[in-house]
Amino acid sequence: MELIITSDYASMNRKAADTISATIKEKPNCVLGLATGSTPVGTYKELVKRNQQHQIDFSQVITFNLDEYIGIGIDLSKPYSQDQSYARFMHEQLFSHINIKRENIHMPDGTAENLEKHCSDYEQKIKQMKGIDLQLLGIGANGHIAFNEPGSSLASRTRIQPLDPKTLNDNYEKFYKKAGIKKEDMPHYAFTMGVGTILESRHALLLGSGKNKAKAVAEAIEGPVTSKITASALQLHPGQVTIILDQPAASELTWSLKLVRENLA
Ligand code: GLP
Repeated sequence: MELIITSDYASMNRKAADTISATIKEKPNCVLGLATGSTPVGTYKELVKRNQQHQIDFSQVITFNLDEYIGIGIDLSKPYSQDQSYARFMHEQLFSHINIKRENIHMPDGTAENLEKHCSDYEQKIKQMKGIDLQLLGIGANGHIAFNEPGSSLASRTRIQPLDPKTLNDNYEKFYKKAGIKKEDMPHYAFTMGVGTILESRHALLLGSGKNKAKAVAEAIEGPVTSKITASALQLHPGQVTIILDQPAASELTWSLKLVRENLA
């Protein structure tokens, strides 16, 4: 596990974009797993900038998003409504600004008629593409990755997951409130890649920003591996793991922070 502590949010995003760019340059038709939330917004801005300056090319890149709210639809061929779907988020933050092919974008559909089949088909598609080369991840304040809420099996696969009250609250404050949507009207279930699915990516890249993530980050990196903090499963990742934090998110690390400081000294 490689731990990179950056001075602030902007440098965290530059580092994250460096890692993603390196993957694309090494393998132009790589499979990227993508995340939503406020954390990767700056990383996406950086990728858009690099693509527009012709430093990276998305024309052969294939993507799979981690999760989506249930009950919210997608139609990548139509303009987006003011819903809070992750599909709309990805379109606005990344896809509509880069030279990616629509057919190479895979987003879960929260309105799929047969959700169980949709989950297994999604897993199947990832397998057909020979797995995920680089999986970008954020971390919830309760330690979740994707929507793998506390108590999710560390071997879990792509499935429908009820949302934890903490997640509902955090995401309501960050996204739904601004859109004028009542809390009781926000989706209470989500489609999520499982922890086991995420652990099969060849390289996992976790980003953490802000003081409100410090406790979850410390528990994920230094605590025991536990389904209470599903990000802690990254300690069991058999491939490459890179964690990029800004200083506030790293502020509750103890021994690993000491190690980083000693290495820098
Ligand atoms: C959300 C998403 C996660 C995301 C996390 C953190 O609920 N399901 O994929 O990483 O919570 O979100 P944020 O970056 O907004 O803090």
